[in-house]
Amino acid sequence: MTTTFPQGFLWGGAIAANQAEGAYLEDGKGLSIVDLLPTGEKRRSIMKGNVPSLTPLEGEFYPSHEAIDFYHRYPEDIVWLAEMGFKVLRVSIAWARIFPTGEEEAPNEAGLLFYDRLFDELLRYGIQPVVTLAHFDVPVHLIEKYGSWRHRQLITLFEKYAKTVFARYQHKVKYWMTFNEINMLLHLPFLGAGLVFEEGEDVEQIKYQAAHHQLVASALAVKACHEIIPDAQIGCMLAAGSFYPFTCNPEDVYQGMEKDRESYFFIDVQSRGAYPGYAKRFFRDRGLDIQMEAEDAEILKQHTVDYIGFSYYSSRTTSTDPEVNQKMTSGNVFGSVANPYLAKSEWGWTIDPLGMRITANQLHDRYQKPLFVVENGLGAHDEMNADQGIDDDYRIDYLQKHITAMSEAIEDGVPIIGYTCWAPIDIVSASSGEMRKRYGYIYVDRDNEGNGTLQRIKKKSFAWYQKVIQSNGADV
Ligand code: BG6
Repeated sequence: MTTTFPQGFLWGGAIAANQAEGAYLEDGKGLSIVDLLPTGEKRRSIMKGNVPSLTPLEGEFYPSHEAIDFYHRYPEDIVWLAEMGFKVLRVSIAWARIFPTGEEEAPNEAGLLFYDRLFDELLRYGIQPVVTLAHFDVPVHLIEKYGSWRHRQLITLFEKYAKTVFARYQHKVKYWMTFNEINMLLHLPFLGAGLVFEEGEDVEQIKYQAAHHQLVASALAVKACHEIIPDAQIGCMLAAGSFYPFTCNPEDVYQGMEKDRESYFFIDVQSRGAYPGYAKRFFRDRGLDIQMEAEDAEILKQHTVDYIGFSYYSSRTTSTDPEVNQKMTSGNVFGSVANPYLAKSEWGWTIDPLGMRITANQLHDRYQKPLFVVENGLGAHDEMNADQGIDDDYRIDYLQKHITAMSEAIEDGVPIIGYTCWAPIDIVSASSGEMRKRYGYIYVDRDNEGNGTLQRIKKKSFAWYQKVIQSNGADV
């Protein structure tokens, strides 16, 4: 069997601290934004920027507090990831484990030690950690004191955190990412940047100001990474998935381009090193006044990313016709019109493998840098069969088609360096807080209300992914 995947292709999976670790106050950790998110409607409203209680409420269920207890169970989980043949595991560091309020003079040694142990364990099994600095993660104290990323002080504090972890893990981590799905800030500002809004505030002004601060912080992290770990690579991370115009009406086509630019805007700055003309015009037209210091332009220009990391779950569709706009897909934070040619997941996320090839080609055409698919997967409800196993053929089918589409993109000449599926083990859903929305090859016994033994069980997809990795993608 021949494979299109290059030697050394980085096969693996991706999880995030706030969705997996639990132990939300252990070993000195401070509160992180996700620790304030309950489930259901309340969660959705806070994620969009409605003010939450800044201390967890008595009697409320917060899924991140225990999550899947990866904090204590990572050694047993890594054994199974290694059995599947993982080359990499993408994780994030919880900022509030290292600097519990974000402002301490010295880092929290117990927090640093946890990641030492985690990375050592991965490396012992030949699995390289790929580390995201901020995956929907801000210490809550920084919301109270500064209003989070709306304040420029966050740049300084983030830079200090980034330098601390680069110095500490310089011999253990060679692949880094700055902000997970940086464009999520515009759609879920609390999740993406810890932003909450008071009545009457200019939400758009605040979001783009916070975006500027994150972009400068990202560039400064790139600079520090290159200085401290010269043989490391550091990338950005985009919630990708191109917009299709609903029809060939130029109005629809133009709107599709604009919608894509809402996301490209971030990566244009991180990868090309400057604000694009269309963004400047957007600021002008909307009367937004983004405060930038004199040195910012040079920082952005000098410290661009080494690779483009992206998540791909779905393509998106847009229309200028009010009637068509009645039929939106549910569950898609990017607000997409239902695409009549495509099926949807149980949560209303469009399933479009060819869209992955299209997206990868477009990203490469635009940036001419290596791409890293750092999230892709199917959130589904899994049922036990009579033998207490899980036959997740629907998941295998989704992943097979997307991996095939990725190999086509490689044939097209797109340099893709790795693929980390979301998420190799069931973890808490970011958008809904549910456990029932499962992505894993490994089942975790826990339900939406937090009941269950947390026992791990291999699903049918476990052996399938093992075979994919063993054959370097030839046998999907
Ligand atoms: C991405 C995030 O948006 O999608 C992950 O980076 C998230 O944190 C994943 O879990 C899947 O979304 P959800 O809402 O199904 O967990």
